Amino acid sequence: MTKLVIVDRSGNEKEIEVADGVSVMEAIRDNGFDELLALCGGCCSCATCHVYVDPAMAGSLPAISPDEDDLLDSSDHRNETSRLSCQVTVSPALDGLRVTIAPED
Ligand code: FES
Repeated sequence: MTKLVIVDRSGNEKEIEVADGVSVMEAIRDNGFDELLALCGGCCSCATCHVYVDPAMAGSLPAISPDEDDLLDSSDHRNETSRLSCQVTVSPALDGLRVTIAPED
């Protein structure tokens, strides 16, 4: 199990324990955050699972694929810490990662 800290759009924080191997999107959705629409179900085709990750841990995350990069470019709210949460798999390397749900486009 890996610990994540999720921050919703109102700034409320919740610490969750997540099984390794699921996506950060699934972890957020399955822990009661209904703001994260994840409309495509994790197929990397909707960008409604946009989050910001703790820059201090960016090096522990898998690299951004060209598809993810293109989709993130379609968001008005992209910044240097943006990721699509369905493309990040939970692993012990992410323990303690702080994830903030990005504003809706
Ligand atoms: S859930 Fe659609 S891109 Fe992540």
